[in-house]
Amino acid sequence: MFHSDTLIRNVKIIDGSGGDASFGSVAIKGHAIERVGDFDGASAEQTIDGGGKVLAPGFIDSHSHDDLYLIRAPEMLPKLSQGVTTVIVGNCGISASPVTLREEPPRPMNLLGETSAFRYPKFADYVAAVATASPTLNVAAFVGHTSLRNNSMDRLDRAATSTEIAHMRDQLSYALDSGALGLSTGLAYSAANSASTEEVMALAELLFRSGGIYATHLRTEGDLVLEAMEEAFHIGKDAKVPVIISHLKCAGVNNWKRSGELLRSLEQARDASGIGWDCYPYAASSTVLDLKQVDERVTIVITWSTAHPEMAGKTLAEIATGWGSEQIEAAKKLQPAGAIYHCMSEEDVRAILRHPGTMVGSDGLPNDAFPHPRLWGTFPRVLGHYSREQKLFPLSEAVRKMTSLPAQRFGLSDRGLLKEGYVADLVLFDPEVVRDTASFGDPVRAAVGIHAVWVNGALTYREGSPTGRRAGRFLPRQ
Ligand code: ZN
Ligand code: CU
Repeated sequence: MFHSDTLIRNVKIIDGSGGDASFGSVAIKGHAIERVGDFDGASAEQTIDGGGKVLAPGFIDSHSHDDLYLIRAPEMLPKLSQGVTTVIVGNCGISASPVTLREEPPRPMNLLGETSAFRYPKFADYVAAVATASPTLNVAAFVGHTSLRNNSMDRLDRAATSTEIAHMRDQLSYALDSGALGLSTGLAYSAANSASTEEVMALAELLFRSGGIYATHLRTEGDLVLEAMEEAFHIGKDAKVPVIISHLKCAGVNNWKRSGELLRSLEQARDASGIGWDCYPYAASSTVLDLKQVDERVTIVITWSTAHPEMAGKTLAEIATGWGSEQIEAAKKLQPAGAIYHCMSEEDVRAILRHPGTMVGSDGLPNDAFPHPRLWGTFPRVLGHYSREQKLFPLSEAVRKMTSLPAQRFGLSDRGLLKEGYVADLVLFDPEVVRDTASFGDPVRAAVGIHAVWVNGALTYREGSPTGRRAGRFLPRQ
């Protein structure tokens, strides 16, 4: 006989390892999983009958841009409602901290929030702000290379000087000492594209002593994507640190059907075991409206525009027709703006998603007026659409891609598995019903089939509503 805080009975346990499901109960004491299996004689403060539904480790969003949103909107409904219990922020070279702005945030840092939201000149300030905001879920954070460039350089369209690199190294070191996960880059964006490989190497070199990770939005995801991957491998090898390739894809009509090549290159890389990657389950990308990506063969939808806010949700083609101009001219008039690009082939998305090395990451943009549906739909879409309906992989494999695999890649050693002694980040969902409802036409909609979410042992979401508990923590690098 033992007494727990919470007892979840009658559940199909998918433990995150990729192995078979088992039926039983799970007991939670404090923030930890106390007991798992087929046991009797337990009593608890709160007992929940799982009704035979699936209980799994909470999902880890391996690629997010929630840095500032989770402070502004600590309930974090877009993610909590999907069963996400940890978000990785600071991706694509853009982090909320350390940042000191002189004027407007340079693109694409403006995706994270407005000028006034960047209030964390030191990484420790951000850690403290997360604690004060007390979000519903856990946060681990990279430091963005573009953010460091912003702090150290008068203009971003050139390589950094040695003095500027020294300044960036000081800021990165300090952030690593304050618990940052590592360094991220966004080399495709003009704010970082002029950085040399050596500039990045001089920063990445600091990661080794603290066990940090190098995550990268590649220098290009288009024609030269393999060369860009080689650059990432080289940086990781030189620094002797793990590499994560963000939102792996074949972008642009010219590159369709190249997923096999990309996956082979990842498998055959010299340090393959130290290389991870994530992807989101959609054949459309989303970021700032980039003139280089305007292509009449690709449908582009405007997600926000400062110059013409009324155009959010319209296609660039419609807007151009309405204005009697070329798409490229219309794109210039909309700036600054964001967009969705239907630039991938479904076949490539499926091939990448299916690969056993692929983690799931939303890359959701929570500040967009008309966001890509990945913000609200990513995880249930993998479970419902890709696993149950399309049978791309078994449910236990879908769960592994969202739990133990990212936990291992990001060094979250006590999360990602439903196992005794692990932290009680859990999600209860109905495997027959779970699915995304957010669509490109109607993107702000919560998924169905997610019944309950526990974060650090606290019941945080139940039957479509947050419970009011906000037990999320900042997770320093372990
Ligand atoms: Zn990116
Ligand atoms: Cu991103």
